[in-house]
Amino acid sequence: MAKTRLIRIVATHPKVAMPTDAEFYLPADVFFRANLPTALTFDDVSLATLYSEVLPRETDPSTSLSETLKLPIPIVSSDMDTVTESSMAIAMALNGGLGLIHYNMAPRDQVKEVARVKRHIHGLIQDPITVKPSQTVAEVLAMIEAKRFAFSTFPVVDENGHLAGLLSGNVLKERYRYKKVGEVMTPRASLITEQEKAVGPDPIKAADDFFSRHLGLNKMLIVDKSDCLHGLVTASDVERITSEAKARKKPARDAEFRLVVGAAISPQRKSDGALDRESILENVGNLVAERVDAVAVSTAHGHAKGVGDAVRLIRDAFPQLTIIAGNVTSADGVDYLAKCGADAIKVGQGPGSICTTRVVAGVGIPQLTALYLASTTARKKNVRILADGGIAKSGDIVKALTLADGVICGGLLAGCREAPGEIIEIDGKTYKQYRGMGSLAAMKAGSAARYGHNEADQNRKFAAEGIEALKEVSGSVDDALSALIGGVQSGMGYLGASTLAELRAKARFVRISPAGQKEAETHDVIEVSTRKQ
Ligand code: XMP
Repeated sequence: MAKTRLIRIVATHPKVAMPTDAEFYLPADVFFRANLPTALTFDDVSLATLYSEVLPRETDPSTSLSETLKLPIPIVSSDMDTVTESSMAIAMALNGGLGLIHYNMAPRDQVKEVARVKRHIHGLIQDPITVKPSQTVAEVLAMIEAKRFAFSTFPVVDENGHLAGLLSGNVLKERYRYKKVGEVMTPRASLITEQEKAVGPDPIKAADDFFSRHLGLNKMLIVDKSDCLHGLVTASDVERITSEAKARKKPARDAEFRLVVGAAISPQRKSDGALDRESILENVGNLVAERVDAVAVSTAHGHAKGVGDAVRLIRDAFPQLTIIAGNVTSADGVDYLAKCGADAIKVGQGPGSICTTRVVAGVGIPQLTALYLASTTARKKNVRILADGGIAKSGDIVKALTLADGVICGGLLAGCREAPGEIIEIDGKTYKQYRGMGSLAAMKAGSAARYGHNEADQNRKFAAEGIEALKEVSGSVDDALSALIGGVQSGMGYLGASTLAELRAKARFVRISPAGQKEAETHDVIEVSTRKQ
């Protein structure tokens, strides 16, 4: 019987080293080069989880837009006429972010919007509403009614600004209507006041001490050496502000405890095409007089001479002012605006939810690659970058913050009740208008310069670079931001990053296939709860 021969075939594959995380999960500098020549955006990538010793709630998402402008959260609301006016800016700042008031309004109205934010409860009311001893109770009641004041206690001052007394709400009754304020007020001699000098730079702390020393008082009236009224702090504001300090939510305030706010401006031109230097300087000067915290030279194409000239002009005239400028999508664009004097540069051309720049002009770069290029120069030049547009969910913010110092959101906030505009009801659902600043309607309302059009173009057809749309009404800015920041802190926890600087240093990227994108979404279930992102 023939013997069966066993033949062993040994595969001779070269030995493969054990794969390591470092090979697969790449840092930005390696990852974006490895994907060339393809440019990537948020949904093209995911972030690798890393060893962590931090819990989400222990992370600190604070950032800064310049050496002086610090923000407890890295979110800015867009300078769009359906997103940011004073109500939105107040809500943003109370949550620790920043609102950029849009410029589709007369410059004096924009200044008023800024003033509304700066005068929002900030502890010390420097110009309290006062009444005169010669007024009647009826006149004061009529003023409260006409101005819809929610308070009814007023300091009384004479013609020379000297404190004469305090008019309490208890005596503002119809039965006293014919009496003079001077007859019913608590007279000066019975009032306990505080000297301006004793208040110092922290009016809240001073008032806190004052109310502890003087039980039962709920107004601290501040007077100067000549007994002229210089301000007022109310006990309820002190309580609100001190409880804010203990809460996780920290408002963004300036050195004088006012809420912070920014305002957008355009590089206005004269009819001959030259930069309108006088108007720009006057406009910025008026904003600065109201203590605006930042101006944003906002255009669709920021790597352009007109924008650079406007930034230089403002930088020379206002050396201390925080200047934001944009938009760009390249390292050279960041370099240019940084050299002109910008502190923070907006990055994004065409990623926005209402943008059509890429369709209309064929121009623009998917947002993450644009941010990567911008970030390389930003670090060298010591300027900040803001990821502007295309943020659709909190995970996009985490990805953006691996490269940028903050994000600008339009669509995510446009449905909030603090956004300007009427609520529209369609088939039982409620919506708010949200339109691109490059839409025909918005450009006609004033934003044409942002897209390089001038007044003469008003008579011909603009090439619109944005659409008019609707957003479902989505509750308050408080709710929207707490969900977004919750997501950001969660992402920081997954990467073991306790600060945004650590997030940037630690981030490792992987590329996602269409199947991976599908896997990232909920799938094969019927969703029953409402998600907020
Ligand atoms: P999101 O995605 O947050 O984007 O809705 C808001 C950002 O989009 C930019 N923007 C426009 N871009 N045409 C454009 O190409 C437009 O009409 C337009 N309007 C706003 C802007 O940067 C904003 O912050």
